[in-house]
Amino acid sequence: MTLRGFPQSAVLTDFGNEKGDDIQARQFFVGGNFKLNGSKQSIKEIVERLNTAQLDPNTEVVIAPPSTYLEYAVSLVKSKQVEVSAQNAYTKGSGAYTGEISVEQVKDVGATWVLLGHSERRTIFKESDEFIAEKTKFALDQGLKVIFCIGETLEERKSGITDSVNQRQLKAALNLVKDWTNVVIAYEPVWAIGTGLAATPEDAQETHKSIRDYLAKELGQEVADSIRILYGGSANGKNAPTFKDKADVDGFLVGGASLKPEFVDIINSRQ
Ligand code: PGA
Repeated sequence: MTLRGFPQSAVLTDFGNEKGDDIQARQFFVGGNFKLNGSKQSIKEIVERLNTAQLDPNTEVVIAPPSTYLEYAVSLVKSKQVEVSAQNAYTKGSGAYTGEISVEQVKDVGATWVLLGHSERRTIFKESDEFIAEKTKFALDQGLKVIFCIGETLEERKSGITDSVNQRQLKAALNLVKDWTNVVIAYEPVWAIGTGLAATPEDAQETHKSIRDYLAKELGQEVADSIRILYGGSANGKNAPTFKDKADVDGFLVGGASLKPEFVDIINSRQ
């Protein structure tokens, strides 16, 4: 089994698949997107559960509480294996931008990641591909790592344009971002988010493979092989293990289930 093209900085585990095929090593990654949920009490419970559970040491874990609780979550986390992410950050360091939070502030309170391009930001808050790309560039330039979300709506899937939608969303960022070392991509079909209707492992694999092929065309095979592509959309403790042997599914971005005890099962789903 050979290990191809991975960032030197990452702690790597060679997972292989059931057939023992030759696949690249990428560290399994599970993100928890709390969205606009939680209180001091519930966030304390979630983090304490992560602190006391036996987490698969090969999984990188990132939790994204609402910005009001970022510092609180950072203060509670005990393990180096768990990092904290903002759910958004603006394209400016400071200034007259009422209601925004800055990359510098996110870093100042000890968070190390930011989620950008989530479909709820794209649809409800009308964020464009270009705006998301600018935020991504700014965050990376200032030293935050980015979970970059893409995905098609049900209508787009039905019209057979899933790949071109994903490519359009990626292309805007590819135009600005040249170094993808600190980016994790989350493929989140909009029709699967919060609906209880997850993509099948086969459908996810097929789309992840197309995303990776596109990245290979734009960035070269070696870089494409090093980028983690997460699946998001109704991932839970039960269905997570069914993605285990899918070579291009490198983890999950979890919404609803990240608030529940089963988040630990998702983190451990490769065991
Ligand atoms: P869900 O959300 O797991 O609740 O479907 C996923 C996400 O939006 O990141």
